[in-house]
Amino acid sequence: MAPITDPNTLANHHSVVTEYTTIDVALDFKASSVSGDATLKLKVLKDGVGEVVLDTSYLDIKCVAIDGKETTWKLDDRKEPYGSALRITLTNKPKAGDSIDVMISYSTTEKCTALQWMTPDQTSNKKHPYMFSQCQAIHARSLYPCQDTPAVKSPFTISIRSPLPVVASGLSTGSKKFQAGTPGTLVYTFQQDIPIPSYLFAVASGDIASASIGPRSMVYAGPEELLKCKTELEGDTEKFIQIAEKLVYPYPWTTYSVLILPPSFPYGGMENPNITFATPTIISGDKSNVDVIAHELAHSWSGNLVSNGSWEHFWLNEGWTVYIERRIQAALHGPQYFDFSSIIGWKAFRESVELFGADHEFTKLIVDLKDKDPDDAFSSIPYEKGFNFLYYLDRLVGREKWDKFIPHYFKKFHQKSLTSFDFKDTLLEYFSSDAEAAAALKTVDWEEKFYGPGLPPKPDFDTTLVDVCYLLADCWKSIETTQFEPKPSDIADWGSGQLVVFLEAITDFEKPLTPAVVEKMKDAYKFLDSENAEILSRFLTVALKAKDEKLYARTAEALGQWGRMKFVRPLFRLLNDCDRELAVATFKKNDNFYHPICREAVRKDLKL
Ligand code: BES
Ligand code: ZN
Repeated sequence: MAPITDPNTLANHHSVVTEYTTIDVALDFKASSVSGDATLKLKVLKDGVGEVVLDTSYLDIKCVAIDGKETTWKLDDRKEPYGSALRITLTNKPKAGDSIDVMISYSTTEKCTALQWMTPDQTSNKKHPYMFSQCQAIHARSLYPCQDTPAVKSPFTISIRSPLPVVASGLSTGSKKFQAGTPGTLVYTFQQDIPIPSYLFAVASGDIASASIGPRSMVYAGPEELLKCKTELEGDTEKFIQIAEKLVYPYPWTTYSVLILPPSFPYGGMENPNITFATPTIISGDKSNVDVIAHELAHSWSGNLVSNGSWEHFWLNEGWTVYIERRIQAALHGPQYFDFSSIIGWKAFRESVELFGADHEFTKLIVDLKDKDPDDAFSSIPYEKGFNFLYYLDRLVGREKWDKFIPHYFKKFHQKSLTSFDFKDTLLEYFSSDAEAAAALKTVDWEEKFYGPGLPPKPDFDTTLVDVCYLLADCWKSIETTQFEPKPSDIADWGSGQLVVFLEAITDFEKPLTPAVVEKMKDAYKFLDSENAEILSRFLTVALKAKDEKLYARTAEALGQWGRMKFVRPLFRLLNDCDRELAVATFKKNDNFYHPICREAVRKDLKL
C-alpha cells in the first residue's frame, strides 16, 4: 500500500504517527468548554525528526510536555479551513522506531466547531444543560489536538468529568467520584481497544437515561423520550447486526448502542464506535426511519474498521455503507426493498449532480479536496455514486462471487485505512485466478469510474414498489383537466417510503402544482399532521415549489424545530427563493438553536 496523502490535515503524520490516545478532560457547562489533557503516544517513523505538528482549531493551548518534561511549542496562524498547526519542538532528535509521549494541556474555546452546548431551556425537559460532539469530517481538531486524518488510527482511553451522565465512543469502564471536584461531579471512563481515527472520537453529556434494546444494545435518550425510543428501535437493532455479520463477519466491537440526541443534531446519524449518535427525527412512532440505524450500524465495518484514508476517498466509507444497508433491508423485507431504496437514492444523487453542475469536481467518485473543506463537498454523491459503483461490480462478477469478495476485502483492510487505488488492486488481485470474473473486470473503465463527473448509466431497478406512487403522482399532474378526486384511501395502506416517493415525484414536475392544488392535497392526505419529518419536509417542499404562501409560516416553524441539515438546508434554499426576508429572519431567529456546522452551512447557502 502506498502512503496516504491527505490534503485536509496539517499534521506531519508521515514523520510521527499516533499509536495511542489518552483523553482526560472535564466538561464545564458554565463556560461551555472542555479542558484537560490529551496525551498522544507517537511512534517516530524517520530518523532526526525535529518537530511534531498537530492539528488544532480554535484551541487554547496551555502547555506541552514530552515524556513528562515541559517543552517549547508554537501555534501557527490559522490556515482556513484547517485551523492552526501546533508545532512542538523535538530537541533530542529521536530515531525511527522511538516512541514519545506528547501531553498537551488545553481547553476548547467558544469557537469550537465540534461541540454544541445547550442551556437547560434548549433541551426538551428544560432541566439540565446538554452537550454533544460531531467530529466528522475535520472537527476533531477543535475538540483536542491530534493528527486529524482518517489515515491515522489509535486505541483510546477516555476519562471525562461531568456533573451529568456521559457517553463516549468506547466501552464504559465505569464512573466514580472525582475527589477534588465539585460535589456531584463524577469521572466517567471508557476504553476503545480497537484503533479508531480522530473523527470517530465522540462525547455527549446531559440528562441521559438508558434502556435495553437488544442483547448487546442500549438506547440512550432523555428520560421523557426513552420509552418511545426503546419501542422504535428494540425490534430491529439485533436483527440488523446479525444480517450484517453474515454478510461481512462477526461484529467485533462488543456492544452496539444508540444515543438519540436533541433536535439540533445536524445529521441523520453518526457512526461513533459503540454508540451511534442519531437525530430524534428517526423516532417517528412507526419504525419507518430505522434504515438510518441499519446504515450507521453498517459503518461498524465500512468506515470504522475499514476506513477511507482521506476524505477524497469518502465513497469507500459511504458507498460501502449504503450497499450493506440495502443488503440488510433486502434480507429483512425482500429484494424489492433494495431496489426501492436505490431508486430513492438515485433521485437524491441526480439532484445533487444538478445542484453542483454535471461537470463539477464534487460529482466525481474520487474528489480533489486540496485547499477545500470536506464539509463543502458533502452530498448524496459519494453515497450513491459509491453504492452504484459497488452494485455495478456486484452484477459484473455475479452475486455469489461478489459475496465472497466482501469478507475478503473487509478482512484485508481490517483496522486499516485505504484509498480507492488499494480497493482496485485488491479487487483485481482477488479475481485474478478466476478467468471469467477477471475478463468481466477487464471491461471496467477505471479512469471513467474514478474521475468521470456526473451520473453513470442508471441500472434497471425493479419498480414494483414505486409504480403505484408514480401512478398517483400522475393523477395529481393532470388534476386540473381530469375528474380526479383525491381521497384519504388513495394512500391508506402505503408505507412512509412510498409517500416520500410520491411527494418527490410531484416535486419533480416540470410545472409545479398551483397553490390551490397543494391545499387540496393537504386536506385530502393530512400531510401537515405527519409526525414523520421525511414526509412533512417533502410536503413543505411541494408547497414551496408551488409558491403556496399559506404554508410559508408552517415551513418557518418547522425550520425552528429541526436541526438535521438534510431537511433544513433544502427548505431554507426554497424559502429563500419564495420569501428571502422570511428565510433570513427565520435563520436569525433560530441561529442559536442550530449546531455550528449547520449554522455555517445555511449561512453559506443563504449567502449571508
Ligand atoms: N457519517 C455520516 C454522517 C456524516 C458524513 C457526518 C460526513 C459528517 C460528515 C453518516 O453515516 C450518514 O451517512 N448519515 C446519514 C444517514 C443516512 C444515509 C441513512 C444522514 O445523516 O442523513
Ligand atoms: Zn454514512
